[in-house]
Amino acid sequence: QQNPKAIIVIFGATGDLAKRKLFPSIYRLYQSGKISEDFAVIGLARRSWSNEILRDKVGESIEDAFSSREDLEHFKSHFYYQSFDVTDSGSYQGLNDLILELEGMYHTEGNRIFYLAMAPEFFGTIAINLKTYCLKDNAGWARLVIEKPFGHDLPSAQLLNNQIREAFDEDQIYRIDHYLGKEMVQNIEVIRFANGIFEHLWNNRFISNIQVTSSESLGVEDRARYYDHSGATRDMVQNHMLQMVALLAMEPPIKLTTDEIRSEKIKALRAIRPIKSDEVDESFVRGQYDDGVLNGEQLHGYREEAEELANSNTETYVAGKIMIDNFRWAGIPFYIRTGKRMAEKSINIVVEFKDIPMNLYHQDESDRNPNLLVINIQPNEGITLYLNAKKTGHGSVAQPIQLSYNNNGAHSINTPEAYEKLLYDCMLGDATNFTHWDEVAYSWSYIDSILQAWEKKEPDFPNYASGSMGPKEADELLEKNGHHWWSIT
Ligand code: BG6
Repeated sequence: QQNPKAIIVIFGATGDLAKRKLFPSIYRLYQSGKISEDFAVIGLARRSWSNEILRDKVGESIEDAFSSREDLEHFKSHFYYQSFDVTDSGSYQGLNDLILELEGMYHTEGNRIFYLAMAPEFFGTIAINLKTYCLKDNAGWARLVIEKPFGHDLPSAQLLNNQIREAFDEDQIYRIDHYLGKEMVQNIEVIRFANGIFEHLWNNRFISNIQVTSSESLGVEDRARYYDHSGATRDMVQNHMLQMVALLAMEPPIKLTTDEIRSEKIKALRAIRPIKSDEVDESFVRGQYDDGVLNGEQLHGYREEAEELANSNTETYVAGKIMIDNFRWAGIPFYIRTGKRMAEKSINIVVEFKDIPMNLYHQDESDRNPNLLVINIQPNEGITLYLNAKKTGHGSVAQPIQLSYNNNGAHSINTPEAYEKLLYDCMLGDATNFTHWDEVAYSWSYIDSILQAWEKKEPDFPNYASGSMGPKEADELLEKNGHHWWSIT
């Protein structure tokens, strides 16, 4: 079914995510003809908005996001608002009536998406109430989309999952990790599994180490309340960073189906060596940003960003060495790092290959240029292969050269945003780029031990300047193994 029909119910329609991501994504799907006229969106939240207010907000969000706004009035007319209390039975009955009415108007064949874009403490309650009030006993399909955070640690994630599973089956649950909707993250599997020159070398015999970086120049912004209870490890490592590691480390699936791909990712995550609490310092580094200068601008440290952060010990930076104990990866470190207020916004992967047994062309260690495969995810999208070639006119001197493919060119205007792709996948019933519960569970169990060890010890914060690439301990982490971070832009 290429033009899916559905009612999309957004819990938390007055929030930031709806405004910044969901409304523009639905608009793009509509404009590109991927969804037909047969859809309606019901926005739910506590505030007493009307359809008109919601439609105005939808209009504003589209105007902020795009310069071309064809059919905007007509598009907005598909939006409906209901003031909603997630614990009140009347709210669910009202929602049921509204859905039934709109299903008649828009011919959506009973297909329903329930999108939870709100405070996570209510995820369980909503899922159970959707079942209790028969909102998911519809003629078509029913799917539940859940934003992170999916729990705070493994036990709370388990509890939440149990609640949701009381109402929805695993294949009806779409746990969003928006990194899985990024074009170049989706490209990891293709680059690996469609190229002989990489796949044959993709193991501990030929790769020296793999580095995954997601640095941000932004600080905590206005999310102090959420972020200070989360920190970089829960906010980024538990989900996005470990998902990228899984895609880099997994075995080739036997088929490109959801189950096969997920089961290979799960196996890779299961093979990650757990970190013992007394060994955390050897493998992980945490940081918190101090004041500093970025692009000529003087910036405050994290603790000065809001009153409640004055004594915070929350980490805004993490770097780590992940070991995967399986045949392919034994002995090869996967280094990850992510943080706020770093020198630049950049998401990239660097695969460093081992040196050849004897290199005739370099004089000393300092001019050693190992082959690198760089996958640029953001802001540039592309791949670059770093090779050595003869320096023109110089007898036997080698110099590094780059072979680059840039994905930003011709396609960029039409490249769908991550959320747009994921929402469309959900409407088509394709859960491949959503995380299975087992992936969530293995990721939590890995980071829980790190967080528990950190909790026992007061950190020495702040320890990196805004506008830098993080604390010096993160460099030492690699130097211990004779490696260093490759700075790639
Ligand atoms: C979100 C985190 O999941 O990812 C944010 O909650 C972070 O703190 C964001 O800024 C980064 O996403 P992206 O796509 O800009 O790399």
